[in-house]
Amino acid sequence: MSKAGRLVVLVSGSGTNLQALLDASADPSYGARVVAVGADRDGIEGLARATKANVPTFVEKLSDHATRADWDAALAAEIASYEPDLVVSAGFMKILGAPTLDAFPVLNTHPALLPSFPGAHGVRDALAHGVKVTGCTVMLADAGVDTGPIVAQEAVPVLPEDDEPVLHERIKTVERRLLVDIVGRMAREGWTVSGRIVRIGNQSGGEST
Ligand code: GRF
Repeated sequence: MSKAGRLVVLVSGSGTNLQALLDASADPSYGARVVAVGADRDGIEGLARATKANVPTFVEKLSDHATRADWDAALAAEIASYEPDLVVSAGFMKILGAPTLDAFPVLNTHPALLPSFPGAHGVRDALAHGVKVTGCTVMLADAGVDTGPIVAQEAVPVLPEDDEPVLHERIKTVERRLLVDIVGRMAREGWTVSGRIVRIGNQSGGEST
């Protein structure tokens, strides 16, 4: 059974999911705390949020490396230096490579009900498809694009007048609460993975893989 006290959070943008984790972890009974925040670009609000919370930050830009493999290795080394129990990809707009995925459990959050609408435009694609219900998914990352074992999902209605920003904001309100809840429960209770089935807590029937 894995536990998740030390979190490294990866961001690429506004970092409101990160902020929700920072706020939750101010209470020691939450069971997890953000020990570092990493990004693939400078000057984003997510990094400013970390600095304001006195959490160390690091930036690994793809353009600073000769190859994607070099970037993957450098990112994994940065993450490893903070000895995380769990890496949370919270709006990090890059696919993580084997050096990170093989070394740490990685939790990812996505603004759609997977396996529908994976990828960078989950909200836009759901709207364009005309679905009446969408939502958010918290999953363990694997080498694919939003294909890892699902940990939790929650539905969000699509309203007739929605555009992408309005719908995304409605989803993010739910997403932040779900992510905070799941990370806290994983930290406090541990989790197991058996094939695609993730179980949080000390339940029978699962084996860590
Ligand atoms: C979230 O909806 C996340 O699922 C998606 O991008 C958004 C990030 O929001 N990939 P924030 O940076 O946490 O505010």
